[in-house]
Amino acid sequence: MKALIAAPDSPRGFQLAEVPEPVPAPDQVLVEVRHASVNHGEVRHLGFQPAGSVLGYDAAGHVVQAAENGTGPGVGERVVAFGAGAWGQRAAFGTDSVAAVPPSLDLAEAAALPLTGITALRTLRAAGSVLGRRVLITGASGGVGRMAVQLARLGGAHVIASVGSPERAEGLRDLGADEIVTGLDDIDTPVDLVLDNVGGNHLVTAWNLLRPGETLQSIGWASQEPATFPPNSIFALGAAKTLRSFGDISNPGPDLATLTDLAARGTITAQVGWRGPWTNLEDAITALLGRRVLGKAVLDIE
Ligand SMILES: NC(=O)c1ccc[n+]([C@@H]2O[C@H](COP(=O)([O-])OP(=O)(O)OC[C@H]3O[C@@H](n4cnc5c(N)ncnc54)[C@H](OP(=O)(O)O)[C@@H]3O)[C@@H](O)[C@H]2O)c1
Repeated sequence: MKALIAAPDSPRGFQLAEVPEPVPAPDQVLVEVRHASVNHGEVRHLGFQPAGSVLGYDAAGHVVQAAENGTGPGVGERVVAFGAGAWGQRAAFGTDSVAAVPPSLDLAEAAALPLTGITALRTLRAAGSVLGRRVLITGASGGVGRMAVQLARLGGAHVIASVGSPERAEGLRDLGADEIVTGLDDIDTPVDLVLDNVGGNHLVTAWNLLRPGETLQSIGWASQEPATFPPNSIFALGAAKTLRSFGDISNPGPDLATLTDLAARGTITAQVGWRGPWTNLEDAITALLGRRVLGKAVLDIE
């Protein structure tokens, strides 16, 4: 079969190549992948993948071989999946890492949900109830950001969406943003939770905007800029503020099911901002890292 594999010595860092068919473990299903999506971290760090490994994590398609141990979906079922090696014509996924795609949800949209959706869902859940709370989301124009805006609004938050330029805010009001800011300098009221996708100066400024006793959830560092905290700036009188990391993507199946259910009912939308054949991966990467994708980039697997 064909797959997009890591090729650290090639100029693009990847290539479309013939690879052996995946051999599913007893607790894995084999999926014929129809669509896959591109995540910021996996393309930002392409050069670090072992040569020859099949790239990608987010996929949607049809089950062509059920799991030997009897768990999970059967042959022919439409599924969304999360796991290493997703960007191939076929891929093996643990049955704890797939969810059924309801008939009303397009497979290409489903493929856009896994990593960004799980990340937004889990970081919001970790914060507890956001009902009536001021939630600041940085990098709100991107994949995680657009998911987080929708889910925070669903949880009853007052959502403040931060973007890099006014054009990048397109559609955010409809997704549930109560306030849209370009940069953080114009926010003058403290916030109760930060979901930070940008890092660098955004993280430092967002920390200062955080109310005592509350949490800044660091998700990512899209800016790749260092964060410099001036001396004593971490100190604040009153209840302690918390800075949390995120990286727990284990057992994604139940959260995938939640996301596909919400998307199938139209409660959230997948926000596919770029779509094209997998032979155009380079264009997708250029657009994503060039901050020109409103949401997710989805590849059609031929
Ligand atoms: N911890 C985890 O498990 C986890 C999971 C998923 C993602 N992440 C990380 O979280 C971050 C966001 O992921 P994503 O999928 O939302 O990425 P994305 O779709 O590329 O969005 C990133 C956003 O960051 C903003 N940004 C600000 N400064 C930037 C800069 N110098 N270069 C590029 N973007 C910049 C951009 O918004 P504007 O153009 O509006 O400024 C962009 O929309 C990434 O760093 C990713 O690696 C971590």
